[in-house]
Amino acid sequence: PETGSLSIIVLGASGDLAKKKTFPAIFHLYLQGFLPPDEVHIFGYARTKISDDELRSRIRGYLVNDKSASHLEDVSKFLQLIKYVSGSYDAAEGFQLLDKEIEKHEISRSSQEGSSRRLFYFALPPSVYPSVCRMIRKYCMSKSDLGGWTRIVVEKPFGKDLDSAEQLSSQIGELFDEPQIYRIDHYLGKELVQNLLVLRFANRFFLPLWNRDNIDNVQIVFREDFGTEGRGGYFDEYGIIRDIIQNHLLQVLCLVAMEKPVSLKPEHIRDEKVKVLQSVLPIKDEEVVLGQYEGYRDDPTVPNHSNTPTFATVILRIHNERWEGVPFILKAGKALNSRKAEIRVQFKEVPGDIFKCKKQGRNEFVIRLQPSEAMYMKLTVKKPGLEMSTIQSELDLSYGQRYQGVTIPEAYERLILDTIRGDQQHFVRRDELKAAWEIFTPLLHRIDRGEMKPIPYQTGSRGPAEADELLAKAGYVQTHGY
Ligand code: BG6
Repeated sequence: PETGSLSIIVLGASGDLAKKKTFPAIFHLYLQGFLPPDEVHIFGYARTKISDDELRSRIRGYLVNDKSASHLEDVSKFLQLIKYVSGSYDAAEGFQLLDKEIEKHEISRSSQEGSSRRLFYFALPPSVYPSVCRMIRKYCMSKSDLGGWTRIVVEKPFGKDLDSAEQLSSQIGELFDEPQIYRIDHYLGKELVQNLLVLRFANRFFLPLWNRDNIDNVQIVFREDFGTEGRGGYFDEYGIIRDIIQNHLLQVLCLVAMEKPVSLKPEHIRDEKVKVLQSVLPIKDEEVVLGQYEGYRDDPTVPNHSNTPTFATVILRIHNERWEGVPFILKAGKALNSRKAEIRVQFKEVPGDIFKCKKQGRNEFVIRLQPSEAMYMKLTVKKPGLEMSTIQSELDLSYGQRYQGVTIPEAYERLILDTIRGDQQHFVRRDELKAAWEIFTPLLHRIDRGEMKPIPYQTGSRGPAEADELLAKAGYVQTHGY
């Protein structure tokens, strides 16, 4: 591992994302010893004119998760590593100052190899990405005489459609090379998402079954039991497809559907993901159901006539030898009856059903990403007892039970560590992003033009009934407990 000075610069340090996700993730890495205090310096940068201590006290509440003296001491020590610099996102002054501050720390470690490692985390609205990139390029790059690197971590939304995303990619691409750009999709940092390749390619069980001959349909589902609270302004501009489906769920689809990569090298994995995306057929209007929860427009930051979907079910069809004819049903919604994200792989029925058990349901393999990570297989067994009858039961691997005492890392924590280590496997490559936008842009444009309208649904419901009808039409057979 490299040594020397490592600077983590959180841009947009006083914003919500930084406070709720970025700083806590950095703190957890610190607690686990991944960020040695004699090497690491953390900088917050934003427009607000506040002192170091003010920033520290704003973040503090998000770090403290128990009241023990040793934990509180850790929090205080960590906060002392944070320095705040204020400045605008498009003027030289702030960035020159930031560079000076970083350099001060680097000099003290300059005898070490790789003493100018600079990681810029963009907890910012994408509208300022181009100017911030220009400023970093001009004033804040790592000092080559000290050795090291400069990397940038950018958050979605990367554009609003194919053209705007490509424009943003080109603007950033003129200033940074692809190996320096980490496009984060935090779903790729979730434990069970990271498990997908292992599951598929290290288990003989799945190899012969994972195809159109055996699988009837695949569902990738995201539900939240709360609305857009406090984020109405942002959300209304983007909607559920851009917020969840085009990125998080599509990334999961890639890992479920891709072919085996040549190796685990990031480029090999991403090559296979791109192929899947490029094989997706144009979305048909009749395979889309949009919804909007009642009460969404009561948010003062949402326009009264908003046409933005807060729920969508979209069927994607992959045109290749493995998946022809298998619907991939992507479903996401806010203000529903539960908070859950899961993948449901439903198998075809057994030909020649001598037990007459078809009505009890099909084999189904469920991977629950959250909450309570688990994988379970629904299968038919003999009902215990004297009678020869059958019931549906489950082979269940619940992480909480099986791996007691193991803490599952937060997605952001893992991904920030990857950026420090220079591993791009779990980040989205430029061509991958482009292919993802190609799939959804025509549909998004139709919605933006008001040609497709969301169906109202009640807060706390399953979403519009039309979505369940679409599922049934696609071949999904409801099983017990779903
Ligand atoms: C974010 C979306 O990317 O993911 C939010 O912008 C959503 O709208 C969040 O709430 C969900 O993340 P998680 O990890 O809680 O499922």
